[in-house]
Amino acid sequence: MSEIISKIKKQRTFAMIKPDGVLRGLTGEIVRRIEVCGLKIVALKMIKATREQIIAHYPMSDQAWIDRLGEKGLSTFEGLKLDPKHFLGTDNKSEIGRNVAKSLIDYMTSGPVVPMVIEGIQAVDMVRKLAGHTLPFKADMGTIRGDFSVDSPAIANVENRAIHNLFHASETLEEAVKEITLWFKPEEIMEYNRAGDDIMYSKTY
Ligand code: TYD
Repeated sequence: MSEIISKIKKQRTFAMIKPDGVLRGLTGEIVRRIEVCGLKIVALKMIKATREQIIAHYPMSDQAWIDRLGEKGLSTFEGLKLDPKHFLGTDNKSEIGRNVAKSLIDYMTSGPVVPMVIEGIQAVDMVRKLAGHTLPFKADMGTIRGDFSVDSPAIANVENRAIHNLFHASETLEEAVKEITLWFKPEEIMEYNRAGDDIMYSKTY
């Protein structure tokens, strides 16, 4: 029982500050937001990602994922009264999704990124909540994407670039496990007690 509970308390997720976050000097602010809510950063580094790493990171060979990317982008054309066929030459979700995937590889390898492993109760959902909606114009204020980014996939698609939304966070526990393994060696992940752990997580009275 206590073993199960302590495992839950140590749920790990993966997050990454994207090149626009690093170049805009938002690394400290993003790390601060993760730390002040009580989550523990147990691994962190700044690197230039390779194309191979980004291709392995995103499920690029999963047609359903590619289609979803295309669909997400397409859904924003209507709101701007833009005809995708006119601006992109197609309204096919798979074709658009494939172009987005290509732009994403270029963008994620264009500058330094800061991958990290974050630990805590419900860490996967907590960090997704901190990140906010994928599309900056839909991300709530108070979230990383909502507070610091302004972009629309329709405009990004027309300009043949990825949307600049600052931050990546694993969506599920399975995705987190895969991504942590991809970006970090086990010895790069630290174990330590943070001041305040007892107040946040133990019955001290
Ligand atoms: P996705 O996995 O749908 O979102 P999330 O990052 O919130 O899990 O999309 C992956 C990334 O693809 C997303 O962070 C930004 C980028 N993207 C674009 O560049 N253009 C687009 O039109 C869409 C839909 C996503």
